[in-house]
Amino acid sequence: MIKYHAETRTFFLHGRTTSYVFRVCPEGDLEHIHYGKRVGEDDFSCLVPASELSFSPVPPGAVRQGFSLNVMAGEYGGYGQGDFRTPSALIARQDGEICSRFVYRGHRFRAPDFGDLPCARGGETLEVELSDLCSNVLLRLYYTVFEEDDVVCRAAEFINAGQSAVTLRRAFSFAVDLEGGDYDVFRLAGRHLAERTPERTDLGHGTLEICSMRGASSHQMNPFGALIARGAGEDEGECYGAELLYSGSFSLRFERGETERVRISGGIDDTNFSWKLEPGERFITPQAALAFSAEGLGGLSRRFHDFLRARVIPKRDVFAPRPIVVNNWEATYFDFTAEKLFALIDEAAQLGVDTFVLDDGWFGKRNSDKSSLGDWTVNEEKLAGGLAPLAERCHRRGLKFGIWFEPEMVSEDSELFRAHPDWAIGKPPRCTGRNQYILDFSRADVSDYLYGRMAEILSRYGVDYVKWDMNRHMTEFFSAALPADRQGELQHRYLLNVYALARRLKKEFPDVFFEGCSGGGGRFDAGMLAFFPQIWTSDDTDAYERAKIQWGTSYAYPMSAMSCHVSVCPNHQTGRTTPFSSRGALASLGATGYELDLCALTGEEKGQVAEQIANYKKIARLVLEGDCYRLSDPFKSNYFAMMTVSKDKSEAYAVGMTALAVPADFSRRIRLKGLDGRGEYLVEELGVKFCGASLMNAGLSMPRLNDFSAWSLHLHRVG
Ligand code: GLA
Repeated sequence: MIKYHAETRTFFLHGRTTSYVFRVCPEGDLEHIHYGKRVGEDDFSCLVPASELSFSPVPPGAVRQGFSLNVMAGEYGGYGQGDFRTPSALIARQDGEICSRFVYRGHRFRAPDFGDLPCARGGETLEVELSDLCSNVLLRLYYTVFEEDDVVCRAAEFINAGQSAVTLRRAFSFAVDLEGGDYDVFRLAGRHLAERTPERTDLGHGTLEICSMRGASSHQMNPFGALIARGAGEDEGECYGAELLYSGSFSLRFERGETERVRISGGIDDTNFSWKLEPGERFITPQAALAFSAEGLGGLSRRFHDFLRARVIPKRDVFAPRPIVVNNWEATYFDFTAEKLFALIDEAAQLGVDTFVLDDGWFGKRNSDKSSLGDWTVNEEKLAGGLAPLAERCHRRGLKFGIWFEPEMVSEDSELFRAHPDWAIGKPPRCTGRNQYILDFSRADVSDYLYGRMAEILSRYGVDYVKWDMNRHMTEFFSAALPADRQGELQHRYLLNVYALARRLKKEFPDVFFEGCSGGGGRFDAGMLAFFPQIWTSDDTDAYERAKIQWGTSYAYPMSAMSCHVSVCPNHQTGRTTPFSSRGALASLGATGYELDLCALTGEEKGQVAEQIANYKKIARLVLEGDCYRLSDPFKSNYFAMMTVSKDKSEAYAVGMTALAVPADFSRRIRLKGLDGRGEYLVEELGVKFCGASLMNAGLSMPRLNDFSAWSLHLHRVG
């Protein structure tokens, strides 16, 4: 709910339990008042007196003694009129000056047009229009309130209302100056095969930046961050989170300055960003979702999970049963024939798998990662008869047929590159990554070409499922199609056309299910989730490593967004051997599947596959719709445990794993969370009943387990 009090010129953005409050101050600037637990609609002007601070310049038009933008808590940082904190926008005029001060002009209730960018569905949007006193640019700040989810989405739009061009050198989505305090910053850092490792550090004075300059949101840093009150933990205390609906280079900054206030701001990374606005042109930023929780990081995660499921992930897919997949990548890599794949499909059908996904290597002359990306025609030398016999075999056996694409890439050794060397980003000398270049998606002819190739394959073979991969990061940022003064637009234009292609294909093929991927979880973000309801979480399929990766990912993203497959042992990434049952248990905490040669399994393992699938069908709704609770942190202890509880608390599913067996480990209990304290639950695997309060406060004994062994429990409320 959004309320405006004209007498005090104050905006109240209420969520179910939170309020976000700001006002137009006497000087016309937007002044932040409160973000946190819900408050009344009072006159808060006495909370924000102008207070003199030396070396804080007084801007023109100050009506209060000592007023300075350097001291004020703001809503979007200008530059050059005395605010020395991180600017939210840098606007260069034609004479070269960069200076901005944004003052209120008016407001209305209206949602913007995000063009090709993903945006959250619904909500109530406030548009505040500001004019830049230093240039002729109008700035519109958008606040979309999702009352039920307790989330506020922010975005900014720039309109050149002058007679000459200006260049945006930075255009962040949001900024907010929070009250001073002792805070930690929490982020998800990592690398390929080890994505989204949680890290919490003290925010001292200065700026802590979470960013990617790779043209993709990246394995290395996720576009999610949180500011946590020092005493807050998993289940208690105040936390603020920010998550960008964006999949490219980004920056999230946490800055504690001399007033002790903390400015959180962010959006597109500006290391190599610029956007030229001719008179009358506009630029809109990606959305940033902000959430506050007084129930610790666990509460914050659940806010984001609910928000992403209700507002971002495609409606049609979000709660629909997910395909149980067998993917041939780790089963065959590039070395397959139609016969080998037929056997895999037949075995999959026997075991109850419902989708076969043909991974990399089916096109051009692709027998290794050295060639053929871009040549999306079937390799009939390898696959006798092409894709039709495979698709038909799947459909005849009752399976869906899926296929891998890496649309954004081109191999140097490809027909496409030979025909269009200027379609690759950069110019020689340039880096390769996995022997490939990146296609210049800022060009419409490139994305149209990809649309044509993909649409033909999808329609010709009745493809049901697409895995969309992206296996390298951007290096030399140059487009042969852009003029010199627009080279800084390349990365963002690239992403807009990637989103547009995904949107176009989804519209044209509404029954095709799309999974995202980027060398595992290298583009696991809310932008991608707007198109792909699930993303391959990591190329690391080792059950123990997955416990950690899925744990980390759950801080920002729901279980249903994580594709999790059982693979073979010794594991291909770590060489580790874990029990088959553990691999199944961990893979059941997401969109499950298999990434191995089902034909090579022992009879007993095949039996386990059938059991795992039957179990998964029982708990799938909990994975898709439930509230996620983290129970035992595998980064801080020998034990991993997580659970999901249905919204009505009638059912729950918990999975745990012991990393290394501990001798005489007799007395370890695990306390469950999120249950109905007054309800009575049957713990299916133990055949016993407990009161919810007992399960949460006294806990259950953890079984004594061998190395990397897992357990799972299914609870039903019976009273
Ligand atoms: C990436 C993906 C893998 C697989 C390979 C194929 O690494 O994450 O799952 O598809 O590409 O080359």
